Amino acid sequence: MKIVKTIKVMKETVDELRAQGKSIGFVPTMGYLHEGHLSLVREARKNNDIVVVSIYVNPAQFAPHEDLETYPRNFERDENLCAREGTDYIFYPDDQKMYPERYQTYIRVTEIEKKLCGISRPIFLKGVATVCTKLFNIVKPTHAYFGQKDYQQSLIIKQLVKDLNLDLNIVVCPIVREKDGLAMSSRNEYLSENERKEAVCLYKTWNLGKKMIEEGERNIEKIKKKMKEHIENYAFPKIDYIEIYNAEDLSEFENNAIKEGREIAIALAAMVGKTRLIDNVVFKI
Ligand code: PAJ
Repeated sequence: MKIVKTIKVMKETVDELRAQGKSIGFVPTMGYLHEGHLSLVREARKNNDIVVVSIYVNPAQFAPHEDLETYPRNFERDENLCAREGTDYIFYPDDQKMYPERYQTYIRVTEIEKKLCGISRPIFLKGVATVCTKLFNIVKPTHAYFGQKDYQQSLIIKQLVKDLNLDLNIVVCPIVREKDGLAMSSRNEYLSENERKEAVCLYKTWNLGKKMIEEGERNIEKIKKKMKEHIENYAFPKIDYIEIYNAEDLSEFENNAIKEGREIAIALAAMVGKTRLIDNVVFKI
């Protein structure tokens, strides 16, 4: 496994591999890897000749009051995990290379960014769209792997690939969870022992909404109200949003009523203490 720190070397390396006709599976991450990330690396390993993992805590997707400085980092540990999964290259650039002085170009996906996380974190999705476009141009993957954990992010990426005519396939992989159901996240690291116990509330809450729908409830306001009441039984969480949308494009269901035969996304975000957690489920009835 090689660690590549410059854009120039990364580009030269992949140009050569592409010229040899190799497929390149790419997993963009911000590091502090867990089983969720590793599931993407395994999927990339299974289906490509070459696997590239990027580790870069992207400043463009953090607002000034957010956790850029304290975001957990441990490159040595990440390096070992990547090696164990058969990664070929880690792309590990620094801010100077990614956003040199006078950097000024940003990508925005203007409809999808208006929903869910885009409301309380307007900078986040613009930063994600921008850094992923840059990373795609540098790594030139044939396939890039994203987790459903960040569902809106995966829609943003698919949309920009389509709109900008990029030549790569986006693969979205299932959410990997802890035993109690909590979706794995690097930010779970911030939770105190008591907060950790309560963090499962997001999982339990979407399960309640899904069950109501499966048992025949169609009124979205009623389902959201029940979910809100449920999550408010816990001590720590402060809800940012609970939404039920068409999974395809985050559009609203007509007349606030679930439609059979359509993919439904239930998405939640809540602050558990000082930690912002998200979760979702996508299903059909
Ligand atoms: P990060 O939070 O490190 O996540 C990297 C990838 O791992 C994302 O595609 C995310 O959806 C996926 N992932 C995280 N937790 C997961 C879980 N429990 N199960 C399955 N997949 C999971 O998302 C980012 O970084 C950044 O926004 C990035 C795309 C790298 C751009 O900076």
